[in-house]
Amino acid sequence: MSELPIKIKKTPHSRLSEIDFDHLAFGEQFSDHMLEVRYSEGRWHDPLILPYGQIPMYPAVSTLHYGQAVFEGMKAYQYKGDKVNIFRLDKHYDRFRRSCERVCIPEIAEDVFKEGMKALVEIDRQWVPKEKLKSLYIRPIVFASDQTLGLRASGNYRFYIICSPVGNYYSEGIKPIRLTTMPKYVRAVLGGVGDVKVPGNYAASLQPTTKAQQLGYTQVLWLDAIEHRYVEEVGSMNIFFVIGDVLVTPPLNGSILPGITRKTVLELAKKNGMTVQERPVSMQEVVDFHRKGTLKEIFGAGTAAVISPVGVIHHDNYQITIGSDEMGPVARWFYDNITGIQHGEVEDPDSWCTLL
Ligand code: COI
Repeated sequence: MSELPIKIKKTPHSRLSEIDFDHLAFGEQFSDHMLEVRYSEGRWHDPLILPYGQIPMYPAVSTLHYGQAVFEGMKAYQYKGDKVNIFRLDKHYDRFRRSCERVCIPEIAEDVFKEGMKALVEIDRQWVPKEKLKSLYIRPIVFASDQTLGLRASGNYRFYIICSPVGNYYSEGIKPIRLTTMPKYVRAVLGGVGDVKVPGNYAASLQPTTKAQQLGYTQVLWLDAIEHRYVEEVGSMNIFFVIGDVLVTPPLNGSILPGITRKTVLELAKKNGMTVQERPVSMQEVVDFHRKGTLKEIFGAGTAAVISPVGVIHHDNYQITIGSDEMGPVARWFYDNITGIQHGEVEDPDSWCTLL
């Protein structure tokens, strides 16, 4: 049992029976409880688990105006032996702490984040979908709660963790998605906040993504902000190319989000003797490899997206079309192994799983 003083106020009316676990959209339904921790007078107060519901706030609350906020995206899975697994809790906490530091949010203690989350998932463990390839998405969010229009780091904050039972992120399911570059726009710049998980990165992607969707693409493939030539990421996931026998992905250069699934793919690849290159990849190079026939597969990796095959990339009047209507063999290998570890069907030698 945790030593953390968590107060618990359970809901008298569970909504679990209202949920159709056979038809789960991404992030539309929320479990019975949430965790709340408030920061004031220079310290984080005791965590409280309470029924999921509305949170009171004033329109002057500074996060609404200046976006001083950070979030994470994590998942809990049904695991063998009727256990529940929170995947790569340590790595998500590390990224959350780094993101908070970047936008001047006071550090949330590791045990508040980890033990608070474990207590919440334990209380809502019936909300973890039983079926493989579904999961309970966990969304920690912290935001500035001073009432002020002054632009400064807030003196008050609120930290919440909410949970949502989810199926596939993309409407394509695990069928290949279609990407396009939008060289007129950029997602992030070096020295900015592209490598931390702050809401503004996602807001900035909405207009170009909407335009891409109007043109028939699922998402934008972002290019670097200086030369508009080098591949960065997809916003909802990192990107991988299989060129010949080599797995290639752009390096963490400061404007790409260091994805935990990206890290998992790289670690599994190296362990299994694949040749891996983390190096700048220009779109011209991708086009050239495609023309030569050595570009074998493209896929994305992210917590929500898991491993998602990419069937099309449109760039500068050239359309790369790759693979069949199914996941390619390399993407499939990662998909099976990662979901296998998450659900306890494949060994977890590196302690990526936190079992409840
Ligand atoms: C995640 O993969 O957890 C994210 O936060 C991406 C978001 C667009 C759903």
